[in-house]
Amino acid sequence: MSNKNKKPVYISFATQKGGAGKSSFTILVASIAHYVLKCDAAIIDCDYPQLSIANMRKRELENLPKNETLKKLAVTKFSEHNKSSYAVETATTTAAIEMAEKITAGQNKLDYVFFDLPGTVNQPGILSLIQQMDYIFTPISADRTVMESSLSFLLMLKQLSSEVKSYAFWNMVDGREKTNLYNAYNKLLLEYKIPVLETKIPYLLRFHKEAADYSQEGIFRSTLLAPTRSMLSSSHVGYLCNEIFEIINK
Ligand SMILES: Nc1ncnc2c1ncn2[C@@H]1O[C@H](COP(=O)(O)OP(=O)(O)OP(=O)(O)O)[C@@H](O)[C@H]1O
Ligand SMILES: [Mg+2]
Repeated sequence: MSNKNKKPVYISFATQKGGAGKSSFTILVASIAHYVLKCDAAIIDCDYPQLSIANMRKRELENLPKNETLKKLAVTKFSEHNKSSYAVETATTTAAIEMAEKITAGQNKLDYVFFDLPGTVNQPGILSLIQQMDYIFTPISADRTVMESSLSFLLMLKQLSSEVKSYAFWNMVDGREKTNLYNAYNKLLLEYKIPVLETKIPYLLRFHKEAADYSQEGIFRSTLLAPTRSMLSSSHVGYLCNEIFEIINK
């Protein structure tokens, strides 16, 4: 799983569609890689001005000491695994690679660097940053406007570089939606030669919660702690990670 002898793998959950799940999957997959699979990860948040991941890390650091249960959980986890939290850095799109190189220099060899990119392709430097990614995973959902926007992004990726390996995956799948609709869209994506991951992520309310609003249900979205088993179950995020890391490490 670990690839310390090589350059870290640059990964981005990206699409120009706002609110598709980019930041959520960046956090979930980075946390599973780092805290569960014991690889070394970092996140570079390039999504100015919202910086949602960097701000979430700040909130978590502020709230963790105030919540006894969370504090205990963090202490147990850190002493159990002897592993500190991963870096969450911010950088503009033009300075993101430099930041990645800076944090991976010297002894701090990393396996994976996750880039949370802005949702607009008009941002200066975004296209050349995209070209430097090793893998891009695009969350899509079965809605006409989302599909139009995602498809144009995925086709742009194909044109931009044959080096960047890009995949789409279904997110916010509603059990009531017709399988026919997914089959039709999958066929369309196949025609465009856009690979689609097998894992489908259901629409689940736990995505809306972060560790800062911790309840007894457990942890899901957190930059400091791994998702708890009960919260991971039925979210299919574990399957998503297996599929992603199998692709990357094959
Ligand atoms: N599978 C899901 N089920 C339910 N809610 C989800 C799911 N995936 C993402 N969401 C929710 O959708 C919203 C947008 O997700 P997120 O912030 O990760 O998207 P984004 O692509 O980073 O958005 P932005 O374009 O604003 O950066 C969040 O409230 C998140 O909790
Ligand atoms: Mg985001």
